[in-house]
Amino acid sequence: MTDSRAQGRGRFVTFEGPEGSGKSTQLRLLGKRLRGLNRGVLETAEPGGTDIGMQIRRVLLDAKNHQLRPTAELLLMFAARAQNVDEAILPALGAGTIVLCDRFTDSSLVYQGEGRGLGAEVVYEVDRIACRGLVPDLTILVDIDVETGLARAHKRNQRTQDVETRMDEQELAFHRTVRAAYQKLAQDEPARVRLIDGGKNETDVAEDVWKVIEPLLRRSA
Ligand code: TYD
Repeated sequence: MTDSRAQGRGRFVTFEGPEGSGKSTQLRLLGKRLRGLNRGVLETAEPGGTDIGMQIRRVLLDAKNHQLRPTAELLLMFAARAQNVDEAILPALGAGTIVLCDRFTDSSLVYQGEGRGLGAEVVYEVDRIACRGLVPDLTILVDIDVETGLARAHKRNQRTQDVETRMDEQELAFHRTVRAAYQKLAQDEPARVRLIDGGKNETDVAEDVWKVIEPLLRRSA
């Protein structure tokens, strides 16, 4: 496997976590801080990230799409990802940009591989085709207990009258499986996946994120 160093001079950082972990807020805060230091930053998100990806996202997250099957769900996640990798992420890394991506293959691993029970092997097989060896330099895993996270996510969905709730509406056991799979990932890949406590206040979490990011930036200078 290669990583983004082989793809260019940039750095590829992904944010992961269960529903309502606050990872998207942390991604934005980090982006702002990096721009303040005059670093080139691309913020992107999955599923989505590109125009095509946003169209695929609507199918994936529409609460009405109860009939979507696990394998189709997996392939659509990776279709959006393949588009994002080719259209946005690789060109940005090649130009020396720091790419901050809200969810990536690890999400497919824990939600489809574990949550839906498709298995890790299937996920990595599709990843090989869609991402062609692109692996994050660093993954920030914002951990949160399932009840707190879901309560936050439901509040947000009500506030924004969000219809993209198909995944949030899975049963509690599904979300517990997802969180456990994330925690196992951090244990299995401690050098890449750094677990951060998302139960703290926003400012403290941001400081914890910064401590993990700083060494990576020094390496890229
Ligand atoms: P989103 O509204 O972006 O929520 P969040 O703030 O939690 O990221 O919804 C993305 C949903 O899609 C989320 O429930 C996780 C799920 N997902 C997968 O199941 N597999 C994947 O590969 C990705 C990228 C996301």
